[in-house]
Amino acid sequence: MRITVLGSAAGGGFPQWNCNCRNCAGVRAGTVRAKPRTQSSIFIRADEGQDGVLFNASPDILEQIRARPELQPARGIRDTAIAAVVLMDGQVDHATGLFMLRERGTPLPLWCTDPVAEDLSTGNPILRVLEHYCGVRRQPIPLDGARFEVAGLSLQALPLSSKPAPYSPRREAPVAGDNIGLLIRDGRSTVFYAPGLGAITPPVFDAMAGADAVLVDGTFWTDDEMPRLGLSTKTARDIGHLPQSGPGGMIEWLGRLPARTRRLLIHINNTNPILDEDSPERALLERAGIEVCEDGQRIDTST
Ligand code: MLT
Ligand code: MN
Ligand code: ZN
Repeated sequence: MRITVLGSAAGGGFPQWNCNCRNCAGVRAGTVRAKPRTQSSIFIRADEGQDGVLFNASPDILEQIRARPELQPARGIRDTAIAAVVLMDGQVDHATGLFMLRERGTPLPLWCTDPVAEDLSTGNPILRVLEHYCGVRRQPIPLDGARFEVAGLSLQALPLSSKPAPYSPRREAPVAGDNIGLLIRDGRSTVFYAPGLGAITPPVFDAMAGADAVLVDGTFWTDDEMPRLGLSTKTARDIGHLPQSGPGGMIEWLGRLPARTRRLLIHINNTNPILDEDSPERALLERAGIEVCEDGQRIDTST
C-alpha cells in the first residue's frame, strides 16, 4: 500500500495565518527548526500507477495536488488520480476541500457516515451546494464493522469517541459515526488511520494492534495546551483529541503496541512542541520510536 501524506497539520495548518505562538512565529522567522504543514489529508493507492483514494478533503487540497504530480496523471484534457473521497468526520479541515473539486465532469464518489452526511447537508451544507456543480455520488460508510471496497482498498470503519464539528447540532451529544477510524487493507498490509481520536477504547486498541502501521491523532502534546497559551478555554479532550503526553496519553498507548508496528502521528496542531525538531518533546518521541508525519511523506507498507 502506498500512502502519501498530503497534509499533516490540524485545522489552521502550520504556521496558522493569525498565530504568533512560539512555533508559528519561529517557523516564519526561521528561528525554530520546523517544517510548514498543510491541513490533514492522505492519499492511498493499492498499487503504484493505480488511481487512489483521498482520505479527507482539506481546504489546502489544490496546493496539495500541485505539490504531488502523482495526483495529476494527465491522461486526458481533464484528469485526476483521485478515484474517490472518504471522510473521517465533517470537520472544516477535512471536508471543505470538497468545494475545490467541483469542476469534475461527473459526480464525485464520496464515502461518509450518515451523521457526517447529515451535517454536510444541514449545519454546513457542502453536499447541497455541490449539487449545483459536479454533485456527489454519496455512499454510506457502514458502522457495524462490515468491510467495504474503494478503489482496490478494503476499508473497515470503527466509530470513535471524539466530537462532531463545532457547527454540528450534536457537538455536545456525539453519536456513533461523527468520527471514525479506518482499518485500510490492500491484501498485503493493514494500516489504521485516525487523525481525530478522543479515547482509545478496547476495540480501537485491538484495531491498532492488528495493523502494520498506525497513523493517529497527533493534535496536542498536553491536554491544557490551548488554555495554557491563552488561545482557548477548551482542553484537548474537550474537543475530542487525546493528548500525547501524561498518564493515559497517546505515547503510553503506542508503547503497548507490538514491536513491529510502525507508529506515526498526524493532524498536528501548530501549538504542539513536537513540530520543533530540536525540542525535548520531539526527542522523547524519537526514543519511543514514534514518527511525526510531514507533508509529502511517503509510507510504503508493502515492503
Ligand atoms: C479539530 O479536529 O478539532 C479541528 O482541526 C478543528 C478545526 O478544523 O478547526
Ligand atoms: Mn481537525
Ligand atoms: Zn501557532
